[in-house]
Amino acid sequence: MLTTELRELFNQMTIEEKVGQTIQLSADFFSEETEDITGPMNEMAMTEEKKFQVGSVLGVTGAEKTIKLQKEYMEKHRLSIPLLFMADIIHGDHTIFPIPLGLGATWDPELIKETASISAKEASAQGLHITFSPMVDLVRDPRWGRVLESTGEDKTLNKHYARAFVEGYQGTDLKEDLTKLAACVKHFAGYGAPRGGRDYNSVDLNENTFREHYLPAYQEGIEAGAKLVMTAFNTIDNIPATGNKRLMREILRKEMKFNGVLISDWGAIGELVPHGVAQDNKQAAELALEAGVDIEMMSAAYSEHLVELVKADKNLETLLDETVMNILVLKEELGLFDNPYRGADTETEKTAIFSSENKAVALKAAEKSLVLLENKKALPLNQSEKVVLTGPMKDSHDLLGAWSWKGDKTKTPTLKEAMDHHLGKNTVKVIDETEIFNGAQSFLIAELQEADTVLVALGETSEMSGEATSRTNIQLPKIQIELLKELRKLNKKVVAVLFNGRPLDLSEVTPLVDGLVEAWFPGSKGAEAIVNLLYGVINPSGRLSMTFPRSVGQIPIFYNQDNTGRPSEQGGPADKYLSKYLDSENTPLYPFGYGLSYTTFEYTNLRLSKTEVTSADSIEASVTVRNTGLSEGIETVQLYIRDKVGEVVRPVKELHDFKQIRLKAGESRIVNFTISEDQLRYTHADHTVKSDAGEFLLGIGADSTIELTHSFNLIN
Ligand code: GLC
Repeated sequence: MLTTELRELFNQMTIEEKVGQTIQLSADFFSEETEDITGPMNEMAMTEEKKFQVGSVLGVTGAEKTIKLQKEYMEKHRLSIPLLFMADIIHGDHTIFPIPLGLGATWDPELIKETASISAKEASAQGLHITFSPMVDLVRDPRWGRVLESTGEDKTLNKHYARAFVEGYQGTDLKEDLTKLAACVKHFAGYGAPRGGRDYNSVDLNENTFREHYLPAYQEGIEAGAKLVMTAFNTIDNIPATGNKRLMREILRKEMKFNGVLISDWGAIGELVPHGVAQDNKQAAELALEAGVDIEMMSAAYSEHLVELVKADKNLETLLDETVMNILVLKEELGLFDNPYRGADTETEKTAIFSSENKAVALKAAEKSLVLLENKKALPLNQSEKVVLTGPMKDSHDLLGAWSWKGDKTKTPTLKEAMDHHLGKNTVKVIDETEIFNGAQSFLIAELQEADTVLVALGETSEMSGEATSRTNIQLPKIQIELLKELRKLNKKVVAVLFNGRPLDLSEVTPLVDGLVEAWFPGSKGAEAIVNLLYGVINPSGRLSMTFPRSVGQIPIFYNQDNTGRPSEQGGPADKYLSKYLDSENTPLYPFGYGLSYTTFEYTNLRLSKTEVTSADSIEASVTVRNTGLSEGIETVQLYIRDKVGEVVRPVKELHDFKQIRLKAGESRIVNFTISEDQLRYTHADHTVKSDAGEFLLGIGADSTIELTHSFNLIN
């Protein structure tokens, strides 16, 4: 539909029909299975007539259902303006990939793009138009359960992933390519930094940190073309994001040049009242419209008050008109006026979903997400080893993690099933962990006595991480640590596999195991991926994208810390007055960028093409990486830089670039990076982003603990 036609359509709309477009209802309002929705209808100030004027619905799935609803809706809507169908496709639709924090450990943006493209293909065939993904909130606090949905603590890595997700979902021609979805960057902004790690809590971010670390990934997603942004539940500068005019109009729309649709998070406009910035829903509606929120997800402020507010205030009517035009343009960009059913197709749906090709990518993604944290000559296992499998997750199908609502656990093999598949039925002996607690019993269990290796599957259940799952204690459940202590007494090789959605405090676990594999929630093909790692079918290549602390007391802890005026490295253990703890090292248990391989890599010959650079040229940094082990492996070569002196304090180091290479045993390769002035820019005190002349330190290596061994100067 051309803009003129859109304008003509728009000019026919009544105020009630315009307000209708700004309202989003959940699937149950339109579902025949829902018994009685009188309550919800009243809560949403809904009537049957208004229901068929809303602009979008979330959570309806399945080609038959979406086609049927769209048909009914188009018939009932006076101007036949099509519905938008939205849902949370976060790390897969029916084919479930590892949770985003696991995908973040792949350091493979192309692979992430492929997973997003598959998600879009599966979901669009069911009639979905928009996914509430990618979540690009930067995170530094594993007490917050939603770290599961993020790709980690680093803005550079998160930018790569934000772009990869958006490009994978949207493709290059959203209107013509019906296998694509519109992407929604969320949660704007700063949702990953709640006070105390407690979900929905207020956020204390100074503007410099907010701009320097938290905004870049949202910006990248917007520049990649994301059609929507979702507001965050939290405050920024003590004003809830959803009613924060400066955040949404000045920063998001003007500075970051976002001109798409801004949708509230679930109920977030209504929550302006409990936040205490709105007397009632009427004032909440006004604040949100003034902030530029185009769609209200599941609260009643717009539905109850917007017609009356707009009729009484010409300025608000102008804002409403802008909002409605944003929504109509989005529908046009999706081609819905020409084809309101878009990609929905009951036949395509059957073959697009959970296909073997999709599962093959899920296996690859799961294999690349696994991080080998410890290997004291324990792994890989060989087929002849007698293995006993135990632990609460040994035969769990619960490997999909939060936000996998369309994943089918019954089609998700357990670790036990994957072991049987690999080794042959019942080759691996299974012992119920409760048996091992029966004191003397454990020494009588023959299988344990004869075993070479005890494989123990531990972790969180999927209800323990994700939304509204903040924890003050991020250790494994006590019973699981007790189990490890019991197993340690057996003098057997103990290999633990962890299923969890957040960095855990593994300080008590590490000394009790010989091998330790971080598996996250690895998705539909997770168990097979783990077995492939355990038996050396694949060589682990995952690298952490979020720090694992020694204890919850260190939080927030992240690799790109400030040096402070009294860095702990400045003195010796006897030096008291330094920035450190009495009861813990400052260093994490496992650092950003860390992960072991079955082989080893050596870095030599780091060279810089020159030691001075201007804004008109660049420096080439090259390093030789050699596989000094016995098996082929993938290494993620990481480039870190430190800006020695800035107008504001600068981190002790920052990831600037990375390259993933595969090397055969004995093979070596020269890896090159280009450093240009634009990469050295940062947020100054006045919020301008620019570089300063001066000295920079540089290092290239395997993770964020590497030394910065070289230096160069930026000269004006
Ligand atoms: C939830 C989440 C958001 C999600 C939305 C719709 O509360 O905060 O990430 O997209 O509601 O399910």
